[in-house]
Amino acid sequence: MIGTIQIREAIPSDAENLLNHLQKIAVETGFMTMGAEGPGKTVEAKQKELESILESDVTVLLVALDEKEIIGIAEIHGNESPKLKHIGDISISIAKDYWGIRLGTTMMERLIEWANGPTSQLKRLELTVQARNERARHLYEKMGFKLEAIMPRGVKDEGDYLDVCLMSMMIGEI
Ligand SMILES: CC(C)(COP(=O)(O)OP(=O)(O)OC[C@H]1O[C@@H](n2cnc3c(N)ncnc32)[C@H](O)[C@@H]1OP(=O)(O)O)[C@@H](O)C(=O)NCCC(=O)NCCS
Repeated sequence: MIGTIQIREAIPSDAENLLNHLQKIAVETGFMTMGAEGPGKTVEAKQKELESILESDVTVLLVALDEKEIIGIAEIHGNESPKLKHIGDISISIAKDYWGIRLGTTMMERLIEWANGPTSQLKRLELTVQARNERARHLYEKMGFKLEAIMPRGVKDEGDYLDVCLMSMMIGEI
């Protein structure tokens, strides 16, 4: 099934489709930081953001498409500040119907490839994940991420304060 799914960098005309995906994922699982309030961005604002991401050497945003529908997003979000420009923050979300077909693995591989590529200045990838999100933690560990800390009360979901894991992966030599 994964053979029919296309993975590519997001382009400005993906904005509306991308916002729809984020809204759907936000309510589909309790694992995202964003809740039912959704992304809270206009299509125009998202278009502008996607334009600047395409120009960026610290941020990359991949989308997975089934036909025309975005069914997965994976991002390394960088920081323009010189003292933090070597750090990329990872996030990934795949629609539930498409879990378990190695799409998460494939998208993470593509992100790590980009982070190791010639245009990247990244030296450290980091992410946070709810401790109870065993599928995501397994995926990150499989990709080589190491647990750095567990943050008690790192997020509140439906009234419960939950542990959040900080994980990281170093890129290249310094
Ligand atoms: C986490 C997520 C990206 C994984 O994507 P996916 O496409 O299902 O991942 P894959 O199919 O490539 O791999 C899943 C791995 O988890 C394993 N797995 C599945 N359920 C598991 C569980 N309950 N406990 C441990 N491992 C589990 C699978 O066996 C597979 O590992 P393997 O390749 O060693 O066999 C996806 O489920 C998702 O988007 N979830 C909702 C949003 C989210 O949680 N994002 C991360 C927030 S930090």
